[in-house]
Amino acid sequence: MLPISFNINYSDFTNNPYPVFAELRNSAPISFVPELDAILLTKHSDIFICEKNISVFSSVQPDGLMTKLMGQNMMRKDGEDHKAERRTIFPTVSPKTTQKVWKQKFVDHTKSILESLSDQDLIDVVNEFAKPVSAQALKSVTGLTNMTWQEMDRVSQGMIDGCANYIRDSNVEKNCYDCTRSIDNHIQERMEQGLGSDPSLLSVFASVNEKFETISANIKLAISGGQNEPRDAIAGTIATLLKNRQQLKKILDGEFNWLKAFEEYARWMSPIGMSPRRIAKDFSYKDFEFSENDRVFLMFGSANRDEDIFEKPNEFRLDRDVTQSISFGAGPHFCAGAWISKTLIAEVAIPMFFEKFPKIELQSEVEYSGWAFRGPKPFFVKV
Ligand code: HEM
Repeated sequence: MLPISFNINYSDFTNNPYPVFAELRNSAPISFVPELDAILLTKHSDIFICEKNISVFSSVQPDGLMTKLMGQNMMRKDGEDHKAERRTIFPTVSPKTTQKVWKQKFVDHTKSILESLSDQDLIDVVNEFAKPVSAQALKSVTGLTNMTWQEMDRVSQGMIDGCANYIRDSNVEKNCYDCTRSIDNHIQERMEQGLGSDPSLLSVFASVNEKFETISANIKLAISGGQNEPRDAIAGTIATLLKNRQQLKKILDGEFNWLKAFEEYARWMSPIGMSPRRIAKDFSYKDFEFSENDRVFLMFGSANRDEDIFEKPNEFRLDRDVTQSISFGAGPHFCAGAWISKTLIAEVAIPMFFEKFPKIELQSEVEYSGWAFRGPKPFFVKV
């Protein structure tokens, strides 16, 4: 049989997709959502199995907006083509490089951002802290040190908007091309300057004489995926701990660490809620018929609240076992920036923020938005 059709209200879904996810998991875990023009997989077990079956659930999506706007990066390749690019960037993203090279840079950037906030009583955590911290880190990791952090944030957002522009708004598309052009110009300029021996993405790609097209597509991927997720996770974890002060106290008392807070936050409010796939050939799974070129969304945000895996999944709890959480994916495309993210967010940004502002209090309600990318809207804290 074909997956049943399930309508959603797009605006409600963007504000809060979790009630819809719960309904889908319970009544139609594999269903076609016309408003998204995609078949959604919402159960943890189905995503866990299907994501690894790359001969059917393919990442190659030549007609997809990401490929068209940003070029074919590793996240839009399968098998050996994908593995080769993952191998090339390993020296940039490995745990060893993260600890030996990037961590100190993250500390230095975060320190100067915190110093710049010293005279303020009120801080906009998203825009004044999480955004520059995330963008400065990404400048180092990509090698685009010739870009301002504001430009890094702008081009990241422009590409994200472009990739989600399913209604083909021409202004969004135009802005996205302006952002990708800016990235190409910055890459070109850095290459002309001559790259050093740092382990940035640009340097490691150049060291294997990778073609410009591939370098450009993968730098764009790292920027579109490496800016807003750490930003949302840093700001969101801070907000959530401030709302759950007893749990914050447990961290400050040493019962739990900051990594636990980040990992539970990323389960509870998954910064990337979805990863798309294309059905490569006609296929049936659990009596459902999939046809070649069907678009499938793996809904990580739903899987991370699956009640078959997590008890009381809607609660943020530091004492939860998060080992089955799939906030970074569950297959060969598992986030390449996972080590970098854990270090930046849980070893640097959040602990340094709470250390600098020990008397911090939330000044406004925290609202969240998004379903493919989800994070807090700007909110203020009193320090
Ligand atoms: C809170 C932070 C982050 C989260 C939650 C996150 C999550 C994800 C997810 C869910 C995927 C797709 C996995 C899949 O389809 O199976 C992904 C892929 C990827 N991410 Fe991240 N990400 C984060 C930060 C970063 C950062 C900082 C970078 C780069 C510096 C990065 C680089 C990548 C790359 C290159 C891929 C594609 C990997 C591949 O195709 O093999 N991510 N990420």
